[in-house]
Formats: sequence, structure tokens, C-alpha cells
Amino acid sequence: MKYCASDLSEILLSAEQIDQRVGELAAEITADYSDQEIMIVGVLTGSFVFLADLLRQIDRPCVVDFLAAYSYGTGTNSSGEIRVERDLRVSVVDKDVLVVEDIVDTGLTLSRLIAMLQERGAASVKVCCLLDKPARREVSVQLDYVGFQIPDRFVVGYGLDYDQHYRNLPCVAVLKADKYLTRSTVE
Ligand code: IMP
Repeated sequence: MKYCASDLSEILLSAEQIDQRVGELAAEITADYSDQEIMIVGVLTGSFVFLADLLRQIDRPCVVDFLAAYSYGTGTNSSGEIRVERDLRVSVVDKDVLVVEDIVDTGLTLSRLIAMLQERGAASVKVCCLLDKPARREVSVQLDYVGFQIPDRFVVGYGLDYDQHYRNLPCVAVLKADKYLTRSTVE
């Protein structure tokens, strides 16, 4: 992590804390889906590290697929538009879907994604997210499994990026404001 230590203001969650919590989440999921196959839907790109660790600790039959989707428009209701940039290959019809997200911020993407999966005929849709930033929520969304609630800070690492960077950090850290404010102001 030496390569970017000066870009970070604080380590919010260590690799050890994350590892322990991921194990707890996987145990909860394993217990809750006692007699069902789980269709895990990873939301690209940020969830891939979390999903890989979580998946290997879930002791149930699983099908895994990924999608990339973004909410758009200015509306803050869950029935707004969602653009699917990369769709699932596996049908969700009659499946017990577990959406795996890196972080829930406004909740717009996730709430629209849940609605879309329900409309497509999923038997059930639950959500597992590593991080929850409740202070930023614009639309109510049910989070069934939450790793950590965090304050309203911009974080990177463990799959989360800024401008596609920092995903390989083993921890979750706060990015110094000048690292993203400067760049977005200049661009
Ligand atoms: P929202 O909940 O629809 O606002 O969107 C959540 C998405 O915003 C996440 O999947 C991330 O891609 C991105 N995001 C929100 N907060 C952060 C952050 O602190 N670091 C990195 N990405 C973030």
C-alpha cells in the first residue's frame, strides 16, 4: 500500500476487519438460504473483490453472474430509469437472487435494479452490500446484509475506485479530498 499512502487521509477498515465481517455475512447468508440455491448478481465493477471473498465462504449452491447498470435522470424515486450497460447471461426467472454491491450511497441504482429484477420474474431479491453510507440516501432501499455503515466520506480500496484507481488496496481508506476535487475541477 506504500504506492498511494500519501493519497489517503485515513484507513477506515483494515483488511483484517473486512475479512472477519465478510465471514460473518457469509455465515448469515448460508443460514438464511438453508434449502435454496442462490443466484448471486454482482454489480460491476466495484463489487468484484467483495463478491470473490464472500462467495468462497457461502456454503450453499450458487450461480454467479454480473451486470453493470447505472441509474439516470434527476428523479429520486425508485421507479426511475436504469441503463444496463452489461446484462446478465443467466435468467433470473424463479431464482432467489442476492445482489452484491460494494457501496450504497443515494440508493438510486440499487432500488431501480431491484425493481428491474423483480419485473424480470425473480422469486426473491435480497441485497448484500459491503458499505452503507446512510447519510447520503435519497431513496429508501432495503439492505438485507450490510458489512459496515460508514460516514459520508469518499472511500477507495477493496474493489472501490476513484477514476478506476485504488481497487487493489486490501483495506478501505478515505481518499484525500484534493485527489478528486483537483482532478474533477480541472477536467
Ligand atoms: P448510488 O447508491 O446509486 O448513489 O450509487 C452507488 C455507487 O456509487 C456505488 O456502486 C459506487 O460505484 C459509487 N460510489 C458511491 N460512493 C462511493 C465512494 O465513497 N467510493 C467509491 N465509489 C462510490
